[in-house]
Amino acid sequence: MTYQELYDKSMASPEVFWKEQAEAIPWFEKPKKILSKDQEGLYRWYEGGVLNTSFIALDHQVERGRGEQVALYYDSPVTGRKETFTYQKLLEEVSLFAGVLKGQGVQKGDTVIIYMPMIPQTVIAMLACARLGAIHSVVFGGFAPHELAIRIDDAKPKLLLAASCGIEINKVIDYMTIVNESLKESSHQPQGCIVYQRPQLPVPLKAGRDHDWEDLLSRAEPAGYVPVAATDPLYILYTSGTTGRPKGVMRDNGGHAVALKFSMEHIYGIRPGDVYWAASDVGWVVGHSYIVYAPLIHGCSTILYEGKPVKTPDAGAFWRIIEEYKVKVFFTAPTAFRAIKKEDPNGTLKKKYDTSSLDYLFLAGERCDVATLEWSGKMLDVPVIDHWWQTESGWPMLANMVGVEMLPIKPGSAAKPVCGYGLEILSHNGESLPPNQEGAVAIRLPLPPGCLPNLWNDTARFLSSYMSAYPGYYFTGDGGYIDDDGYVFITGRIDDIINVAGHRLSTAKMEEVVASHPAVAECAVIGIEDQMKGQIPVGFVVLKGGVEKSEEDMEKELIQMVRSKVGPVASFKKVAIVQRLPKTRSGKILRRIMRHIADGKPFSPPSTIEDMTVLPELEGLMKEKHIGHSTDSQP
Ligand code: COA
Ligand code: AMP
Repeated sequence: MTYQELYDKSMASPEVFWKEQAEAIPWFEKPKKILSKDQEGLYRWYEGGVLNTSFIALDHQVERGRGEQVALYYDSPVTGRKETFTYQKLLEEVSLFAGVLKGQGVQKGDTVIIYMPMIPQTVIAMLACARLGAIHSVVFGGFAPHELAIRIDDAKPKLLLAASCGIEINKVIDYMTIVNESLKESSHQPQGCIVYQRPQLPVPLKAGRDHDWEDLLSRAEPAGYVPVAATDPLYILYTSGTTGRPKGVMRDNGGHAVALKFSMEHIYGIRPGDVYWAASDVGWVVGHSYIVYAPLIHGCSTILYEGKPVKTPDAGAFWRIIEEYKVKVFFTAPTAFRAIKKEDPNGTLKKKYDTSSLDYLFLAGERCDVATLEWSGKMLDVPVIDHWWQTESGWPMLANMVGVEMLPIKPGSAAKPVCGYGLEILSHNGESLPPNQEGAVAIRLPLPPGCLPNLWNDTARFLSSYMSAYPGYYFTGDGGYIDDDGYVFITGRIDDIINVAGHRLSTAKMEEVVASHPAVAECAVIGIEDQMKGQIPVGFVVLKGGVEKSEEDMEKELIQMVRSKVGPVASFKKVAIVQRLPKTRSGKILRRIMRHIADGKPFSPPSTIEDMTVLPELEGLMKEKHIGHSTDSQP
């Protein structure tokens, strides 16, 4: 079947199509309905179906003879450790840790926060929650205590699972200090914390609250899997929204399992038994879907890499992993390749490794510039597939579905809509636009299985963020256009979200922090183009009258504030003091125009602008301070 035939089939009769795809999953009870609406009128897939995601990822694989196959390779250049888990071993470890959680009273429907780095215990913890029908919420390590506290208050976890530290190249990050600070700030207090002590930084445990991971394990009994409804939540993953408060994207069990299984075969073109590697972090959606769940659900071997593309120890790290584990399909963010290219532009280190096992390189997480696409293709000598998706979808929305049919690659485009996604480009007033006209990228409802059915405990925000801009559609937040051949080009976010080194962040959040400085009268934080990280945030600040601080001191203080309130991952490193900001007469700051000036892109100021002379003033200041026209941050 061609891509077009399969896509048309998925759109002509979604229920028939997704019923067929659901056959690939071992259900305890088959769904009674394929597509239905819940009490709140929201679409749900596979109502009445009963399954367990951890069972599918582990027990089912062992039952089908994969017990001795490697499920997980752990490779950690930052600690010098490597470990291998067969499906049988991973099943045993997950069952035992599920026993630990059960012993602590965790039951189906309870929430558990996981604040842990790229170590096998994190994967074990996620699968152990899924085994019990508990809902995990993994929080990325690069966030500050305040961000963890917000997530604790929203998810209200029964337990918090943490490791004593994370390791960033050669820096040891003390996770428990972050946990302790966030628990001081949050109103919700989990019943307890289970702490995995890493030898790089053993930490004191707080009596009455903390339990030692290994100690509990030594006394635990393995726990069996708990059947859950297809519509029960598997996890919550917080992601940046257009306000300072993150959104709790909810994922269900049934649609997720079906969509991920479908994607492995039809998008990534990988077979059970093959090695699949996503170089991301379990704290992001890519890590959830393509380090943990999809490879295991599909019976592949997955790789958990605790390192960076460069400096651990060098820019040959990725090539080594591909050679060593015979990776078939590799997935990462373009920024990782930009970092490698910067350190080793001629690919001298590449010559030391044999990467011939590789069939495809997939890139996502941010816009992929043509130079990076071409350079990575030249290095690896495989097709480079740019594909587009987001935390909310949980799996690709646009891709060259090489498992079905390899379409010609058009650099700059993430190819065509994946089966199930009725993608359209809409104008301001919701009309579907013809080819080559740029507008808002939206998906006709219903979204396919695997996409978020709702936000955690916040239907009102779900509706206002995604469903109300264009009735009958899910609004992605991205802009783009479709060319004459049906290829979609994503041109970037049309809201306050930016992508820094493939990490999704909210400039509104950073603005909130900057504005809280007592000397700041008003401010704007915008994302500007960066050669290495894709985008970086820059703060423009108007000081209150009478403030005598030097620009240097202000910059230092604001950088430190964002670091400690949002986290180092924000990469907020540049602040400019300005006399005034460009605004409309009604007082709206013209952030988009500021971005265009910084990126050297043409723009036309709105007729409502308060004072046109502010624009050349700003442009001059940016030049003077070397802000913009594609800056170049260090990896
Ligand atoms: N825990 C604690 N701190 C973290 C962290 C984590 N899990 N991840 C990042 N940080 C910190 C870094 O140490 C750094 O701190 P610093 O300012 O003190 O140096 C800061 O957050 C910014 O990190 P990062 O964005 O990773 O930038 P970098 O300059 O250290 O590295 C790259 C640049 C390109 C090498 C790196 O971003 C990378 O490997 N990107 C791959 C993209 C990726 O995995 N994307 C996920 C979605 S697919
Ligand atoms: P996240 O939710 O962190 O996965 O970020 C999702 C956002 O990243 C999308 O809304 C896009 O803005 C951007 N993005 C992801 N993949 C791509 C891609 N292939 N091309 C362009 N932008 C992308």
